[in-house]
Amino acid sequence: MRKQIAAANWKMNLTLQQGELLVEELLKSTHDLNENQQVVFAVPFPYLVNVKKMLAGNNHVFVAAQNCYNKVSGAYTGEVSAEILKSIAVDYVVLGHSERREYFNESNEMLAEKINICIEYGLKPIFCCGEALEIREAGTQNSFVENQIKESLFHLSAEQLFGFVIAYEPIWAIGTGKTASSEQAQEIHAYIRSVLASKYGNEVADSISILYGGSVKAANAKEIFGQPDVDGGLVGGASLMAAEFAAIIKSLK
Ligand code: 13P
Repeated sequence: MRKQIAAANWKMNLTLQQGELLVEELLKSTHDLNENQQVVFAVPFPYLVNVKKMLAGNNHVFVAAQNCYNKVSGAYTGEVSAEILKSIAVDYVVLGHSERREYFNESNEMLAEKINICIEYGLKPIFCCGEALEIREAGTQNSFVENQIKESLFHLSAEQLFGFVIAYEPIWAIGTGKTASSEQAQEIHAYIRSVLASKYGNEVADSISILYGGSVKAANAKEIFGQPDVDGGLVGGASLMAAEFAAIIKSLK
């Protein structure tokens, strides 16, 4: 059975002190997770070591970087490599978030390179895809997302994709309070899975966790996560509030 994941993406928010208090509080909500369920904290780079230490002994909670560079090492001042992240025992790396694509010009090709380097160093990518409002309004979201997936992931082997994590995040729903309906989420998640199945077969496609992101909150998580092809969420704003994110964790299937 594929993993069900509640992932918190703090983005560029919270001080270290605020973040540690939040994790401490939320760890109380992770005691009754079953072996199929995970919580992931995608925190700013400088907090990774501290947060990782706080998770010691907890088999269901993991730490994620929010990005890494597409080169192995070298003279790239200010960048962070997969090797550096591995050396501090980071588990996951969020790649291709729409904010990275928009503000830092990350292309599907560059993301393919980042994915390769993460896999090489034993880090698990959380690959983000999703369309802008104009694309949704034109009704071409399926082919747009399919192209993102093909250009960044389809060079991987079935073995490399087995158990992979993808986050579908429609840009028009991020930070807007406007959530995709559970039907819209299910429809495109099922489409993503069918695209994966057409190349890799059902066994691989069924092993991939597809998270929904975009204004997930306590009030809507249960319904969205309840869809057959939605395997949890990648949560921004609501992950910064202990009670909200605790309820989201409880909404995992
Ligand atoms: P919000 O939950 O704030 O809409 O952000 C979603 C997101 O971008 C998570 O990566």
